[in-house]
Amino acid sequence: MSSIESIMTENRVFEPSEAFKAQANIKGMEGYQALCGQAEKDYEGFWAGLAKELLVWKKPFTKVLDESNAPFYKWFDDGELNVSYNCLDKHLATQPDKTAIIFEADDGKVTRITYKELYHRVCEFANALRALGAKKGDRIIIYLPMSIEAAVAMQACARIGAIHSVVFGGFSAKSLHERITDASAKMVITADGQFRGGKAMPLKHAVDDALAMGGCDCVEKVVVYRRTGGEAAWDAGRDVWWHDAVKGQADTCEPEWVGAEHPLFILYTSGSTGKPKGVQHASGGFLLHAIATMRWTFDYKDSDVFWCTADVGWITGHTYVAYGPLAVGATEIMFEGVPTYPDAGRFWRMIQDHKVTTFYTAPTAIRSLIKLGGDLPKQYDLTSLRLLGTVGEPINPEAWMWYYNTVGQTRCPIVDTWWQTETGGHMITPLPGVHGLKPGSCTMPLPGVMAAIVDEAGHDAEKGKGGFLVIKRPWPSMIRTIYGDPERYKKNYYPEDLGGKYYLAGDGANRDLDGYFWIMGRIDDVLNVSGHRLGTMEIESALVANPLVAEAAVVGKPHDIKGEAVVAYVVLKGHRPEGDAAKKIVADLREWVGKEIGPIAKPDEIRFGDNLPKTRSGKIMRRLLRALAKGEEITQDVSTLENPAILEQLKEVVK
Ligand code: WT7
Repeated sequence: MSSIESIMTENRVFEPSEAFKAQANIKGMEGYQALCGQAEKDYEGFWAGLAKELLVWKKPFTKVLDESNAPFYKWFDDGELNVSYNCLDKHLATQPDKTAIIFEADDGKVTRITYKELYHRVCEFANALRALGAKKGDRIIIYLPMSIEAAVAMQACARIGAIHSVVFGGFSAKSLHERITDASAKMVITADGQFRGGKAMPLKHAVDDALAMGGCDCVEKVVVYRRTGGEAAWDAGRDVWWHDAVKGQADTCEPEWVGAEHPLFILYTSGSTGKPKGVQHASGGFLLHAIATMRWTFDYKDSDVFWCTADVGWITGHTYVAYGPLAVGATEIMFEGVPTYPDAGRFWRMIQDHKVTTFYTAPTAIRSLIKLGGDLPKQYDLTSLRLLGTVGEPINPEAWMWYYNTVGQTRCPIVDTWWQTETGGHMITPLPGVHGLKPGSCTMPLPGVMAAIVDEAGHDAEKGKGGFLVIKRPWPSMIRTIYGDPERYKKNYYPEDLGGKYYLAGDGANRDLDGYFWIMGRIDDVLNVSGHRLGTMEIESALVANPLVAEAAVVGKPHDIKGEAVVAYVVLKGHRPEGDAAKKIVADLREWVGKEIGPIAKPDEIRFGDNLPKTRSGKIMRRLLRALAKGEEITQDVSTLENPAILEQLKEVVK
């Protein structure tokens, strides 16, 4: 990695406007550097100050960072608090009637719930969970569609000190089973079904199937929220309707005061070996970072209408739907449906109708909306927007420019936030009133985040040279362990090669001469072509910059002479080409990449599809693409694929 070559040059810089800067929570480079300076001078004091200012403690902490059992770090260990209290009770005196959540259903029906109402619903449901036998430390699986109930369920677990593990509703029974058994869950909270794109789809049956697979004796109760009214099989001794469970429950509920290190949740994320890792987060540190980044990155103001489009099944939906926005008392949007139903203008229509000020979504969503209707945003009034954000993968400069010009109308800064399930919140990101933006760069680390790039021996990489992205000091919202597998945690994130002292993110990155970070993709995505290490993302970016191309994914394939050959999977803006037309485009695209990057990056093979294989969270399934490139039989689980049919298309090499 020490010699990853950065071949992408991006010279455009978009400075924040004076008007944005003037109202920003952190103003200008001076404001940013002052905070960074504090953190450098007194690291623990910096975080302790924020923890006192931003969290409500039942019992104040006296210890800040405990490094005695590294890398199992502890923050604010002797302090006591409750996360749900910090998200709900805290606002009762000051803004009980402010709208907390604007929920828009798949069919467009809108439900609003105030802070006071949400508080009562969480209390009722928390009491119901207790009545069903849940207590502090129990693991509860939440398998729900996007809904107010999903937020209520998560908050209710937090209120009683139960540890939730949300499983995305698009996961199969098999994946659900794996998570239920790994967590030894006592309960599962689910719904009869869910609506997506105008269709009702069953959900509970996957829970029934998972529990029938065996090894699930731990599960005592299944709580079922009635959403679609569809048929659902019923086990009378085990299953209970949500509306029955809350009947007669008090609408106030004493929170369980827990130590700051008490686990708030476990969230499973894919690891390189296939077995998902149960990333465990703590209560105090996680919430602190969620609140701090609402203020810093999203420049949160009381008048904002905040919309993070992520599902609560992902970390983004934890930090920036279920916890962060509520903890700062925001009005936020939750959306049940899909961005393309009833048409590809759905997001833009919703921004207009709900006067959204802050919009946070993923590059993959942006690219697909460009493909389906790049001009659609112009048909809506998007003047309420003041800030845009992206997360999940590097955003290619072309998509960035479209987002900036067409959605943000050149008025809104874009925060390209780099972080991970394991980091709990933003780590490297522009602050909208501070950094000049370079399309495709996540710019600079947050104050108190000691990000760096090192070589394989753990030495700082030279400026302008790529390497491993690491975090040199523990931070409050970091992963605490992998549930049930502390050794894997240690080996994965604090490897001995780097001296065991730096958190290894698993991404390759590069820092330019201005100190900006550029993420080059996961380390295992990095190609080595004729001794040159190339970030797949840079080749993808070059392809997408071609006017014909909507989306591209690049993987490596073993090659006798070059080590690895570049295989590109391409989705065109128009139809999937065939015959001579396809040949001509392949030749043109190879030429194009050769010009954009250099001959070394020219794809050896190009394959066209109507789509790329993605998980329902929008992550391109690279392992699958690598297997396809090698011509291997597909053996991995494709149950989370959006569109399994395209696998056949992607086997076809254009010659
Ligand atoms: C990986 C983490 C963080 C919530 C969603 C994904 C990639 C994430 C960016 C970004 C470039 C990014 C990294 C990272 N990633 N954000 N702004 N620029 N790459 O969470 O599933 O845990 O994935 O997503 O490769 O390591 P996740």
